[in-house]
Amino acid sequence: MSRSVVTAVSDRWESALVTTLERGTDAQIARRCPDLADLLAVAGSGLAQVALVSADLRSLDRTALDHLRECSVTVVGIYPPGDEMAELHLRQLGISTVIQADASGEVLQEALDGLDTQPGPQAGWLPQGLGPADEGRLDGADSSQRHGARTGAPDQVVADAPDSLGVIVAVWGPAGAPGRTTVALNLASELARLGQPTVLVDADTYGGCIAQSLSLLDEAPGLAAATRSADQGSLDLAALARLAPEVCAGLRVLTGIPKAERWPELRAAALEHVLTLTRRLARFTVIDCGFSLEDDEELSYDTLAPRRNAATLTSLAVADQVLAVGAGDPIGLQRLVRGLQELGTVASPSPTVVVNRVRASAVGPRPERRIRDALTRFAGIDELRFIPDDPASLDGALLVGQSLAEAAPVSEVRKSLMALANEVSGLTASPDCRSRKGA
Ligand SMILES: Nc1ncnc2c1ncn2[C@@H]1O[C@H](COP(=O)(O)OP(=O)(O)OP(=O)(O)O)[C@@H](O)[C@H]1O
Ligand SMILES: [Mg+2]
Repeated sequence: MSRSVVTAVSDRWESALVTTLERGTDAQIARRCPDLADLLAVAGSGLAQVALVSADLRSLDRTALDHLRECSVTVVGIYPPGDEMAELHLRQLGISTVIQADASGEVLQEALDGLDTQPGPQAGWLPQGLGPADEGRLDGADSSQRHGARTGAPDQVVADAPDSLGVIVAVWGPAGAPGRTTVALNLASELARLGQPTVLVDADTYGGCIAQSLSLLDEAPGLAAATRSADQGSLDLAALARLAPEVCAGLRVLTGIPKAERWPELRAAALEHVLTLTRRLARFTVIDCGFSLEDDEELSYDTLAPRRNAATLTSLAVADQVLAVGAGDPIGLQRLVRGLQELGTVASPSPTVVVNRVRASAVGPRPERRIRDALTRFAGIDELRFIPDDPASLDGALLVGQSLAEAAPVSEVRKSLMALANEVSGLTASPDCRSRKGA
């Protein structure tokens, strides 16, 4: 099948490659783009089906590749003959078909023909304790698979079985500080204590505070460094493991942006890649999300502009489980009802609703029953999890920068979070079986 191809390849290889394409394949060259900006413009016009891009194309990153994908353009990576670093770079950007720049017409045709049938990226879960010996395996440099043109993501070098992938749990909740961070942090800590390797990710672009809550250094590079590295195609599992240090047995933390104004650093495509890797780094990934679900892309004509809520929306979209946390007082419950309606309009699995800070003083005697009645009536939800209000335990934990398991191990609030962790750890549905809404 003849297809419309555009090139954005460095001068050194461009003309020979185009000649080979014209003479040796059935590709129609729609345009030879001098740079990425031109390539994106052509992709936006719908002129191209396939883009051949070279590894050294200036500013080529995951965000640009994501945009090409959205324009239904399939990308083929071109690297100088024998340049393994350039090849690896393309693969780490998520380009699964890569070809040497001096490839024959036959190899190019075979690659173009294979584009329709290539598998999507997959990844397997790796237990913790990564050593230097894992590096080659982790970054996909498996020399036994080398040949002229090949498809398949680098991630495939590790176990591929879907049930070996880690589970992503997004902890979301409406505005008003209902306790997203408290639930995310303590859920992650309890999962780790259950012997489930866990990564806690702070993806709140409004007021991430996991680092402070655990008394970690503010300067810890964390998620911003991981997404930057993912955008540039240099993030592999070993690098991610270094950016997400283990703070106690089985619990790794990817700290958030140190200042809220740095939100443009958390770009959707890059975060998605980071989360693909955390699935392999740990059995559970628990994400502390921001509250806002507004799609700020709709406010902008520039589709490549960063979006503040992209981190939350991406986390919800890739999650296997969503916990929606609301505060157990009249205002918190009203926000929860509206929030759940809004959550129903974005791509995400059905949430498990958690009502936090439950107390009789805010809603009257027998608070759990009253809250259940109210949420059944206004949101049609009667399956609820409750967490009691316990300022003394929470303040004490915050003061010493610890989880409840460490700071208030016998408190009722800790017990309710342990129960939640038990429930979540029993829900290890494969990512392929997720229910989706709005997608
Ligand atoms: N069950 C609880 N009992 C008492 N205090 C709590 C409880 N849960 C959370 N808190 C306290 O409420 C405050 C807000 O909690 P938290 O930071 O977890 O909310 P958040 O939803 O993440 O807020 P933000 O919008 O700032 O991200 C904190 O001081 C926390 O210690
Ligand atoms: Mg928070």
